[in-house]
Amino acid sequence: MYKILILAALACSLSAVAYGAGRGFNQATHLDSTKVPRGCATCHNGFNFKTGGGASICIICHGDTSRLSQEYKFIPKKFLPRDSELKNVETDFRKTYHHPVFEPLAARHRASETMPESDPKAPRHATCADCHNVHYSSPASKFAGIKGKRTDVISSITNEWELCYRCHGDAANLPGRSTNKRALFASTNPSYHPVEAEGRNSAVVSLLKPYKEKKFTPGDVSRITCGDCHGSDNASSPSGPHGSNNQFILVENYSIRDDQPEAPQLYALCYRCHSRTSILSDESFKYHSLHINGRTTGSSFQGTSCYTCHDSHGSTENKYLIRFNKEVVSANANGMLKFVEKGLASFRGECYLSCHGVDHNPKKY
Ligand code: HEC
Ligand code: HEC
Ligand code: HEC
Ligand code: HEC
Ligand code: HEC
Ligand code: HEC
Ligand code: HEC
Repeated sequence: MYKILILAALACSLSAVAYGAGRGFNQATHLDSTKVPRGCATCHNGFNFKTGGGASICIICHGDTSRLSQEYKFIPKKFLPRDSELKNVETDFRKTYHHPVFEPLAARHRASETMPESDPKAPRHATCADCHNVHYSSPASKFAGIKGKRTDVISSITNEWELCYRCHGDAANLPGRSTNKRALFASTNPSYHPVEAEGRNSAVVSLLKPYKEKKFTPGDVSRITCGDCHGSDNASSPSGPHGSNNQFILVENYSIRDDQPEAPQLYALCYRCHSRTSILSDESFKYHSLHINGRTTGSSFQGTSCYTCHDSHGSTENKYLIRFNKEVVSANANGMLKFVEKGLASFRGECYLSCHGVDHNPKKY
């Protein structure tokens, strides 16, 4: 009954003009009849309004190319969107590491929900409609129609990171080892990867072109996005953190394990922007190589991951993204676990900790 009523209501306003009047979304790709020829009914036919419709409707066009012709076999081909214009995101979502749009929890989505979640017990979910509002989105305004938290008010978003903070920021239901990304990227922190603002360090000597700490010349890239690190492992896939063969939905491999010999592939993500040669020749931290490669003689320790010392996002406490991995590093004999910096661009500091049986009380560099 509910469904019939809604469909009847839709039938009355079956034109984008009627539905969109005064809403300013006439640029929307999916309400453009040259791109989505069947209009509202394309999606709103047997559509579950309660749960955002799910991914199955979207992948008719954004999935394996055979789906489009099967689903619309009665429609002459010239009225269908051209395969070549459609972005196939299904392949990435079927990979090992992905946003769970095909999992049953995706159906927890509600059009009326307010994010970030305030109930710690609420199950986490992600469906296409959580990240895309198809009534509004266009190539020019990909996040149009999605609301996020700006300081304390909930309003429309314009930046990718605001989308992510809906679920990976102040959400009360963050899972296990997850951290609050809004807190880590805050530009008031001592250090952060430059997503929301330009970075704090003026001597990131390892940076590869076109990356620069600050924008001096027009070719410099001094800001990066979540999508520069999170996305498909296949560079020709559509953009977006849909899925990847790499853990944590990363564009390149990154191992967070301790005690394994260094190889370019292990930390390929970092080496995309930071010169491996610079890091391993100790251009900044003079004991980088010692820790990353391990000792060559007199010890069985094979080397550790960047993750043992650095957070990939930001640090609310330290400069240089220093955040010790407590599964590997512990307090020293005096019960201290801390990093002390001794002046920016001087490459000097002190560490108080214990690691692989070596007490640092402190160790200076
Ligand atoms: C490309 C698929 C698609 C097309 C085309 C489409 N919609 Fe939707 N519509 C959705 C999805 C997905 C939702 C669920 C949004 C949510 O739950 O967050 C939705 C939700 C709605 C709702 C529920 C309230 C709301 O606004 O969220 C109405 C009403 C609606 N659509 C009307 C229309 C009308 C009228 C048209 C044609 C002008 C249309 N839709 C075209 C996918 C589509
Ligand atoms: C009838 C085919 C069709 C369906 C069904 C469809 N899309 Fe699209 N979509 C298109 C076309 C055509 C484009 C423009 C070319 C492209 O980017 O693939 C597009 C573009 C997009 C874009 C890029 C930004 C933009 O707005 O241009 C997003 C995001 C997107 N679609 C999401 C979705 C989601 C989510 C659903 C399901 C609710 C969906 N689409 C259902 C045809 C479709
Ligand atoms: C509607 C909620 C939602 C939004 C918005 C969202 N995510 Fe997620 N994300 C999830 C859920 C649910 C998972 C599954 C694991 C979990 O519960 O965190 C996940 C998983 C991930 C993972 C893998 C985590 C792991 O431990 O392997 C990454 C990386 C990620 N998201 C990045 C992003 C980025 C980048 C954005 C913004 C472009 C984003 N997410 C937006 C809900 C969301
Ligand atoms: C410089 C690369 C880089 C950037 C930029 C980046 N990430 Fe990550 N992210 C990583 C790496 C590496 C991991 C895996 C190690 C870890 O957990 O820190 C990760 C892990 C994650 C995870 C899973 C762990 C958790 O805490 O839940 C989520 C979610 C995530 N990132 C979200 C984001 C969001 C949201 C943004 C943008 C606001 C972002 N990332 C920007 C590299 C990056
Ligand atoms: C966790 C959030 C999230 C989910 C869930 C999600 N997307 Fe995306 N999607 C993004 C982001 C972020 C982008 C990149 C926008 C940009 O280019 O800035 C994107 C881009 C796209 C594009 C355009 C790609 C391009 O290269 O132009 C399409 C099409 C798309 N998504 C479809 C879908 C469909 C269909 C689903 C569900 C099956 C889906 N997305 C689920 C976040 C998400
Ligand atoms: C044992 C801890 C430790 C490990 C492991 C480690 N670093 Fe560092 N790293 C540091 C410290 C300490 C500094 C700060 C040096 C200073 O005082 O400026 C630093 C600085 C940096 C800088 C900023 C300066 C520059 O060189 O551009 C980058 C980038 C960096 N590390 C990348 C990496 C990467 C990539 C890895 C893994 C391949 C890694 N680090 C592994 C401790 C570590
Ligand atoms: C997409 C490019 C990109 C990737 C990938 C990347 N970085 Fe960076 N990184 C930057 C930029 C740009 C800066 C300069 C920020 C600044 O000015 O402080 C930076 C700065 C740093 C700094 C110094 C921050 C400070 O405030 O002192 C460290 C440490 C660092 N990165 C470590 C890593 C590690 C570890 C990885 C891999 C997990 C990684 N980066 C991956 C672009 C990248």
